[in-house]
Amino acid sequence: MDQIGYDESGATLLGASGAAALESPLSLAHRPEPCAVVLFGVTGDLASRKLVPALYDLACHNVLPRGFSLVGYGRKPMSGQEMRVLSRDAIDSFFGTGTAETRTCNDMLNDVHYVQGQFDDPAGYERLADTLAELDRTKRTGGNRIFYLATPPSLFPVIIARLGAAGLQRGGVVGTPDEHGENRGWVRVVIEKPFGSDLDSARALNAVVRSAFDERQVYRIDHYLAKETVQNILVFRFANGIFEPIWNRRYIDFVQITAAETLGVEHRGAYYEEAGALRDMIQNHLVQLMTMTAMEPPVAFDADAVRDEKAKVLHAVRPIPVERVEQFAVRGQYVEGTVGGQVVPGYRQEERVAPDSSTETFAAVKFLIDNWRWQGVPFYLRTGKRLPRHVTEIAITFKRPPYLLFREVDIPGGRVPANDLIMRLQPEEGLALNIEAKIPGPAIRLQPVALNFSYGTALEELPFSAYETLLLDCMVGDQTLFNRDDQVEEAWRVVSPVLEAWRNVPDRGVMVYEAGTWGPEAADTLVANDGHVWRRP
Ligand code: BG6
Repeated sequence: MDQIGYDESGATLLGASGAAALESPLSLAHRPEPCAVVLFGVTGDLASRKLVPALYDLACHNVLPRGFSLVGYGRKPMSGQEMRVLSRDAIDSFFGTGTAETRTCNDMLNDVHYVQGQFDDPAGYERLADTLAELDRTKRTGGNRIFYLATPPSLFPVIIARLGAAGLQRGGVVGTPDEHGENRGWVRVVIEKPFGSDLDSARALNAVVRSAFDERQVYRIDHYLAKETVQNILVFRFANGIFEPIWNRRYIDFVQITAAETLGVEHRGAYYEEAGALRDMIQNHLVQLMTMTAMEPPVAFDADAVRDEKAKVLHAVRPIPVERVEQFAVRGQYVEGTVGGQVVPGYRQEERVAPDSSTETFAAVKFLIDNWRWQGVPFYLRTGKRLPRHVTEIAITFKRPPYLLFREVDIPGGRVPANDLIMRLQPEEGLALNIEAKIPGPAIRLQPVALNFSYGTALEELPFSAYETLLLDCMVGDQTLFNRDDQVEEAWRVVSPVLEAWRNVPDRGVMVYEAGTWGPEAADTLVANDGHVWRRP
């Protein structure tokens, strides 16, 4: 048996092996209670590539509670033993062959169970309820459950409705009854992206969710929000006094948010054909980054206060006029080109992509925020597959000095360059402030230099991946990093005119760009019309 860690509170934790057991890095408030995690879609890509490895790593960090149990639910006939093998393979392929032989892994996999059932079959949910009740008795999971929906999105409504119909939105009945004759644990439901495919479908899905669950039980995932450096945006802004006074239209000229990927659509052609870059990245991840950059200071660092402020930013985003969408948004699709020295095929040649597809693999959108802080400051968001570099960053460009003192200085373009503050989210997490400095020597000559802070060298290794953070937050009931119902709807509202305009002319206006370049020329024109240029990170 693995050693079990005991903390000062007496709570027991599923421990890492033997003497090398890690001390739990969590404060008492962040220690999860025993619970069962039910994975819908356990044979899918997300479960094996992200979720099972994340749970294993949490066990290694000594933060999973004793009694933690993993339950897979799926259509495929499979025994508990086969599910253990599946999980073992997922852990091995993520962390390296042999990892699954460790005691931590064996311990975690001891508590792996499988329930077979169709997603719309009430009998399957009854069997699930029985399994969970059994775990309450044998593993003391305390009636606490997390239902994690890692299935294709088309199955979300039916699973949610069936969970509700089976009464599974209420915890198990355990221990001594309370004054209402009940003693139930907590139940939470985690819903993966995409949450809807447009405003109407997101509203409809929210209605289904509301019919079965209370909003406090609902955890809508955007894995970007759990990236350590994304959370650092708030710390950076609100734990330092020097930035807030200049964080507004008086000092900031424009903001560029870039999420560039070198990869193509890989094996996800079928999904991507339906989604496209706007739905896949802008509506969720990039719009979230915009709200975190633009939000007002919340009154507290808790789920509702933070989400209220983010929702306010989205409310203030000026609607893009459908008839003038081309002045605000550009789409592109990659054709064959060279990325990282390799010749790669065009999007239309990818697996499970239509040869005449008009799906965009690049999107750039300009948003304006109608409030006192941001009036007149454009926020340019862009993302694309098969771009030259893998980089995600938020670049804040400040206004230039009002008057050029150094008249004799030879500066390209004759204007002192603006200062930029770059928040790099990946791959080299950190911050850089680009400023002008004098080149040593008798004459005044200027050169931009960067004041650089890098996470890798300045701070300790990042403890958790995004999925670990999200799973843990869900186990302790912290919704701060999850989207609330109003937020997802607002995020769909702001992109709706673009979706509508692009839907109306599906095969016109998709510009091609060569793989390995920074997208179509029209994207440059989008910012050039305002007198700006894109950064080339
Ligand atoms: C996902 C998108 O949400 O985010 C993918 O569906 C994209 O298309 C991925 O590649 C990018 O995430 P990350 O964490 O690698 O930046």
